[in-house]
Amino acid sequence: MSYWTIFGVAGAAVLGAALVFGPDWDLPPADTEQVGYRGTGMFVSRDHEKQVALREANQVPEAPWEADPEGDRAGEIYENVQVLGHLSDDQFNQFMAAITEWISPEEGCTYCHSEDGNFAWDGMYTKVVSRRMIQMTQAINEDWQAHVGNVGVTCYTCHKGNHIPQNVWWLDDDPEPAGGALGYRAGQNVVGEFVGRTSMPQNALADYLLNDMEIRVHSDTALPTGVNTATTKETESTWALMMHMSESLGANCLTCHNSRAFNSWDESPPQRVTAWHGIRMARDINNDYMVGLTPVFPENRLGPEGDVLKVGCATCHNGVQKPLYGVSMLQDYVDALAEKTDTGVPDFESFVPNETEVLAPARSSRLESFGQKETEVAAQ
Ligand code: HEC
Ligand code: HEC
Ligand code: HEC
Ligand code: HEC
Repeated sequence: MSYWTIFGVAGAAVLGAALVFGPDWDLPPADTEQVGYRGTGMFVSRDHEKQVALREANQVPEAPWEADPEGDRAGEIYENVQVLGHLSDDQFNQFMAAITEWISPEEGCTYCHSEDGNFAWDGMYTKVVSRRMIQMTQAINEDWQAHVGNVGVTCYTCHKGNHIPQNVWWLDDDPEPAGGALGYRAGQNVVGEFVGRTSMPQNALADYLLNDMEIRVHSDTALPTGVNTATTKETESTWALMMHMSESLGANCLTCHNSRAFNSWDESPPQRVTAWHGIRMARDINNDYMVGLTPVFPENRLGPEGDVLKVGCATCHNGVQKPLYGVSMLQDYVDALAEKTDTGVPDFESFVPNETEVLAPARSSRLESFGQKETEVAAQ
């Protein structure tokens, strides 16, 4: 017997003893939910303690007060109200108080307005961005009912009290490949930040939530017939997107598929159709709203490649199957956010961010804080 064999046998014995006599090595308590017909084995199991942490992280704040819809319109009272002019004065002020809680609870009104109380001034990028975000939120609620239903979204659905939503994505080309043919890794084979920390194509989210690459890769026949031209890399990209979707919703594949036939819509739970609309919605808001705002953001608000931070499934869902567990905050802000106001695109493209007005921490610390958040949740 070689030394290694002896070590191996001894090691196995110690491990065996630990398994038999060791401390309490039970699996952590799980919450199990049946999501398909009895006998089809369609269950979703979730770590109970993580669920408690998620409950905590997805609480809904109260409206500051109930607003009176009567009285003079904000557009008549104030100087420079371009999108919300149709609200009553009380509704407008209620909304200002609400977004302060949703975006900048610590800094207050001066996160978007000057210290000297000139509320009409458009000199801060945060205000210019907010105006466009109001339009984006209205568009989500009006155009994407197939996804958000009557529950709808408010700024809080994404921001949850943070300047920048905690779960966003950006073009991820790190680390720079080494030079020469050997360094070419075709955008994969590193730990991809947004693809479930796998080595699958690291920009899969850009392929689907910005561009419209084909997601379906499944063949209908057991043997190749030449009809399905999807490559292995394409199937990996699909898988990477599916990992992002599962992680974002804290749900496994069976929430949307019957695993005996991932392609079959007939056998899929209804959530899959909602998800289909969600993919298109995320793609639309990234292209129609987020990308256009790129020049307005100062550099420390952009990703490493200089692109705007973008919306994925987790931006709203934050680890749960229905954002904020399906509680509708929109009900308190229907006049402000439920419908698009036909006010045209405010002039934001000529805005030049002035570095001295940037209030918030630099990118490096922002990235660190994302990492921290993840480990906190993981540790809980
Ligand atoms: C997250 C950014 C943000 C915060 C925080 C914020 N506002 Fe505003 N505020 C805006 C935007 C955007 C507009 C313009 C809305 C439009 O054009 O329809 C605006 C406009 C206003 C106006 C109209 C000024 C005018 O004459 O045109 C007043 C008044 C106002 N805000 C008050 C407040 C108060 C008071 C607070 C704090 C309780 C506050 N705001 C917090 C973004 C913000
Ligand atoms: C669908 C998700 C989503 C919704 C809804 C949303 N935002 Fe945002 N918001 C974002 C993302 C993503 C960014 C970060 C972009 C970046 O930094 O490149 C952002 C950034 C901002 C910023 C810049 C903050 C900073 O410190 O740089 C402000 C201000 C803001 N949003 C205000 C609002 C307001 C007000 C609303 C509601 C009317 C709103 N947002 C709704 C996704 C959203
Ligand atoms: C939140 C719902 C949801 C979850 C969770 C989900 N999927 Fe999907 N999946 C979809 C939707 C929607 C499509 C179709 C997208 C389209 O056609 O635009 C799809 C497509 C697919 C396809 C391609 C099917 C075809 O016709 O070629 C595969 C394979 C797949 N998913 C596998 C998975 C795996 C594996 C998981 C778990 C890691 C998973 N999915 C988790 C919703 C989901
Ligand atoms: C702008 C915010 C937002 C984004 C981004 C978003 N969702 Fe949703 N999603 C919602 C809201 C709100 C609901 C709840 C609707 C309801 O309760 O009726 C929902 C519901 C769902 C449901 C149905 C859950 C159920 O059990 O009925 C699925 C599945 C889903 N989303 C998947 C996705 C996927 C996949 C993505 C990314 C491709 C995504 N969502 C992106 C806001 C969002």
